[in-house]
Amino acid sequence: MSNNTKTSNYIRIFDTTLRDGEQAPGFSMTTPEKIQLAKQLEKLGVDVIEAGFPAASPDDFKAVELIAKNLTSTEVCGLARAIESDIRTTWEAIKHAKKPRIHTFIGTSPLHMEFKLKKTKEQILEMTKNAVELAKSLCERVDFSPEDAGRSDKEFLVKVIETAISAGADCINIPDTVGYTQPEEFGALISYLIKNVKNSDKAIFSTHCHNDLGLASANSLAGVLAGARQIECTINGAGERAGNAALEEVVMNLSVRPDFFHLEHNINTKELFATSKLLTLLTGQKVQANKAIVGKNAFAHESGIHQHGMLANRETYEIMTPESVGVKKTEMILGKHSGRAALDAHFKRLGYEFTKDEITTIFSKFKELADKKKEITDQDLHILALGEDSEKRLIWHLEKYHVSSGTDQKSQATVTIKNRETGETKTTTKTGDGMVDAGYQCIDEFFGKVGELTHFGIDAVTTGIDDQAIVNLRIETKNGRVKSAKSGDTDIVKASLEAYLDAVQEVYLEDNNH
Ligand code: KIV
Ligand code: ZN
Repeated sequence: MSNNTKTSNYIRIFDTTLRDGEQAPGFSMTTPEKIQLAKQLEKLGVDVIEAGFPAASPDDFKAVELIAKNLTSTEVCGLARAIESDIRTTWEAIKHAKKPRIHTFIGTSPLHMEFKLKKTKEQILEMTKNAVELAKSLCERVDFSPEDAGRSDKEFLVKVIETAISAGADCINIPDTVGYTQPEEFGALISYLIKNVKNSDKAIFSTHCHNDLGLASANSLAGVLAGARQIECTINGAGERAGNAALEEVVMNLSVRPDFFHLEHNINTKELFATSKLLTLLTGQKVQANKAIVGKNAFAHESGIHQHGMLANRETYEIMTPESVGVKKTEMILGKHSGRAALDAHFKRLGYEFTKDEITTIFSKFKELADKKKEITDQDLHILALGEDSEKRLIWHLEKYHVSSGTDQKSQATVTIKNRETGETKTTTKTGDGMVDAGYQCIDEFFGKVGELTHFGIDAVTTGIDDQAIVNLRIETKNGRVKSAKSGDTDIVKASLEAYLDAVQEVYLEDNNH
C-alpha cells in the first residue's frame, strides 16, 4: 500500500457490511451466510473486508475466523476497542487470513470521552498509543479510528492521530459516527488533518460516513477529493441507524465521473447488482425501488418522453448502462433437463463448495424445484444452498404438514416433525388465526414458546406466480436473544413453517446445550 495519501490515485474500498452493516437491526446473518457474502465481496474486488467484531461474542469470533480462513486474496479485518483483550481476541480470529488487519478505535469527542468512556484526554492518548502498539506487534496492518471524529476538537484529534501513526497505524479512518457533518465540512476536516498531523505522510486517510442526514456518500467523496484514499462503506448502505455510505454509490461516482475525480479502484462494477441482491436475500432487507444504482427502478424509464428519448439515443436519459453494474433481465441459468455437473458448476461459480454426497441431495431438491418452476436462477440456487445449510444444522425437520382454512372455518394445521438422528417423529394439530399461525402453534407445542415473533416477511425471488417465496423472520427470547431464520419454497406455508422451525429450534438447542 502506498503510504502517501496525496500522490496515489488509487482508492481502497474497505467494506464493512459484515460489521457495521450486520450490527443493524434485521441484518444479522448466520456464519455460513456471512462466509457466502464475504466470498461475493472478494469476487466484487473490495480491498478490505471488515468481517466482524470478534470480541463481541463467540459467534462473531467464529464467523470472523472462518472468513479469514476462507478468503484467498482480500484483506480480512477485525474490529477491536482500544483495549488489550479485544485486540488479542481479534488477532486470534484473523491471524489465519492471507492478509490480516486489525481496526482499533476509541471515542475522541467530548461527549464520548466524558459520558461513554469517562476518560480524560491524557488517558485517551495513552490508550491510543497502547492499543495501536499492541495491534502492530501482532499484525502488520493496523487501522485506527477516532470515533465521533466529526464532533471532536480538531487540535485534540491531531494529537490522537499523531500518536496512532507514531505507534504504527498505517491507516487513519475518520468516522462521522453520527452522520452530522456536511460535505464541505467533512472535506475540510480531512484536509486539515492531512495538513496538520506532522506524520500524516506515513499513513493513508480513510472515510467512514454515516447517513443520518442522507449525506454519507457525498461526505465520503468530499473526503476523497480532500486527499483520503480509502472509503469505508457497505453494500446497499447497510449500517447503524440510517446506515453507512453505500459502496455501489461511491464506486459508481468514481467510475461514471473519471473526468471529475481522476481516481481508480479495483471494483468489478458488473458484480454490484448480484452483491446487492445477495445481501437482500440473506437478510430479507429490501432496497427501496428508487435507490441509486441497485434499486428496482434505477434503470426504468416510465414516462413517454423519456422512453422516446431512450429509443432515439440511450444517453439522453442514461448516464451509465444497467449492464455496467450487472443488471440483466432475469436470466434462466438452469432448467429441468440440466444435469448434476451443470448444477455443481453453477454452485462453484457462486462460491459454494459441496461434497459429492451433498450435491446428490441438493440435486434431487433441484429436480423437484425445476418441475414446479420453469426458470431456475442464481437466486434459486442460493436458496437451495442455504436450505442445505439449515438441514445440516438442525436436528428436527419438517416431515409433513396439512393445513385447511376458509371464510366459514377456523384455520387448522397438522404438523409432523422428524428427528434426523433418531428417526423419532412428533405430530400435533392446532387451530389458529390463519394457516401459518396454526402451524406455528404446533411448533410451539413441540418446543415450548421460546420467544416472540418480532418480524415476519415474505418476498418473491423474482416475479413469476411459480416463483419461490422467501420467508424471513426474527424471534426474540425473554432474555433478549434474537434469532433470525429464512426459508424458500414455491409453497408459502411450507417456507413459513420451515423458517419458524429453524429459529425456534436454534433457541431450543442452545437452551438444552446441544
Ligand atoms: O461509526 C463509527 O464511528 C464506527 C467506528 C467503529 C469506526 O463504526
Ligand atoms: Zn460506523
